[in-house]
Amino acid sequence: SQIKEVEFVKSSGRAKDCPKDDRPEFAILGRSNVGKSSLINALVRKKEVALTSKKPGKTQLINHFLVNKSWYIVDLPGYGFARAPDAARTDWSSFTKGYFLNRETLVAALLLIDASVPPQRIDLDCANWLGRNNIPMTFVFTKCDKMKASKGKRPDENIRDFQELIRENYRQHPPWIMTSSVTGLGRDELLLHMSQLRNY
Ligand code: GTP
Ligand code: MG
Repeated sequence: SQIKEVEFVKSSGRAKDCPKDDRPEFAILGRSNVGKSSLINALVRKKEVALTSKKPGKTQLINHFLVNKSWYIVDLPGYGFARAPDAARTDWSSFTKGYFLNRETLVAALLLIDASVPPQRIDLDCANWLGRNNIPMTFVFTKCDKMKASKGKRPDENIRDFQELIRENYRQHPPWIMTSSVTGLGRDELLLHMSQLRNY
């Protein structure tokens, strides 16, 4: 399940413009600053897979990266970026929803959630929207290395609180993985998880 090669393929402005291809794909989404770019770079063990250069709140593109010539990782615009103009925020939803509702090769959404902060309404809303639309998802908790926060709860407590809030909405709780791009926690587990989903 290791990554040998990653190739940038395309940025698309609409779901319709995404690569016409039947290879499976995973979409990465989450709030701006959640650690999306860092996670992707940690997964592929490269500093620059070109994902970090995108200005938060401004990116309105779906970015396709082909891994090992066999599956895609798709970087989506982050949501909840406070400084984004209202127009950009509104666009985000229709544009991203269009992607999720139309992309037949999508295996699962990897919903990134910052474990160093308490559950955020916007993340719960996103998870619930995906669930209502039967989009398979995996919760990927980021920044789990931040175990010594002087104030507030520890990541494991924030994760437990999030799970608690989500529980009533799912007959089967989505899979979830704890990660850290700093320590590499969860990297192999996530790669293995994705390979299992692809071969399912
Ligand atoms: P946008 O591109 O703005 O949407 O953000 P992003 O989701 O791509 O987040 P990015 O990877 O740029 O990380 C945001 C900040 O969080 C950076 O300062 C990272 O260094 C930090 N960060 C990301 N992952 C981790 C992690 O696992 N642990 C810790 N401690 N910090 C992290
Ligand atoms: Mg980024």
